[in-house]
Amino acid sequence: MPGSYVRPESQRPRLAEVVSGAPIPVVDLSSTDRAAVVRAIGDACRSHGFFQVLNHGIDAGLIAAVMGVGRDFFRLPAEEKAKLYSDDPAKKIRLSTSFNVRKETVHNWRDYLRLHCHPLDQFVPDWPSNPPDFKETISTYCKEVRELGFRLYAAISESLGLEASYMKDTLGEQEQHMAVNFYPRCPEPELTYGLPAHTDPNALTILLMDQDVAGLQVLHGGKWVAVNPKPGALIVNIGDQLQALSNGQYRSVWHRAVVNSDRERLSVASFLCPCNDVELGPARKLVTEETPAVYRSYTYDEYYKKFWSRNLDQEHCLELFR
Ligand code: SIN
Ligand code: FE2
Repeated sequence: MPGSYVRPESQRPRLAEVVSGAPIPVVDLSSTDRAAVVRAIGDACRSHGFFQVLNHGIDAGLIAAVMGVGRDFFRLPAEEKAKLYSDDPAKKIRLSTSFNVRKETVHNWRDYLRLHCHPLDQFVPDWPSNPPDFKETISTYCKEVRELGFRLYAAISESLGLEASYMKDTLGEQEQHMAVNFYPRCPEPELTYGLPAHTDPNALTILLMDQDVAGLQVLHGGKWVAVNPKPGALIVNIGDQLQALSNGQYRSVWHRAVVNSDRERLSVASFLCPCNDVELGPARKLVTEETPAVYRSYTYDEYYKKFWSRNLDQEHCLELFR
């Protein structure tokens, strides 16, 4: 394996120590007991910062098609994909590798296609025309995942004792990004990462991943726990902006993706991001004499620039906004 991917001994994933068989919380969105769903989501946001949703309303056929076009895209000839390559995080469509090749010293065993997805008509014309059904499949999925995200926003807002519309209203006319992550087979998975430990800078992330190739791990109780999604589940995680909005009650937890030597792996992350210029930080109602503001107010523009100016595996970016 090229030396530029090899982590120093102290930073390696230590795969033998990873906990498996400790499922992250499951929430069935088809339940008619709304109060129970809201409570389960609130509990999961507090305890794990991650949960899996079942019966989320996105058709299984569409999900299979998204994974299919994602895989087909990465199977295109290298010359064709190279046209989309950029290491400039400001680009609204780009194929890249690792995480932030401009900043990092050790690379990650990952290629990814990053797309801005809202409003769709502004961005879809520049998306890949190969595979031929890429644009249509991915845009349909983007619309549905956005709707699901807003349904989750309502439940999360309620779980914090806020109006159901609080998050949608205060985070503005939100941006939506997607990362289609491709992790090739790796000869020495003990020495490197697909993605090293990080927290997500956005508000909410909805992850779709291979059912039969594990790789995502979440830090829980000081241990790395392998995530094995239930059949048909989507994985949801709280990003830094929800930790801030909840005044630290909900946790944007560290997570990472490891690679393996037998199977390539694909994951599709959808990120709901606040719009750039609204004021972010703790919801006023959650700041009291007993629970003073943990974070100052700032804009997402300020936050996002700070996030991309750093290396991924450093202290929690929110620490810089106290
Ligand atoms: C991510 O953290 O965005 C990717 C995780 C994964 O590939 O499972
Ligand atoms: Fe992430």
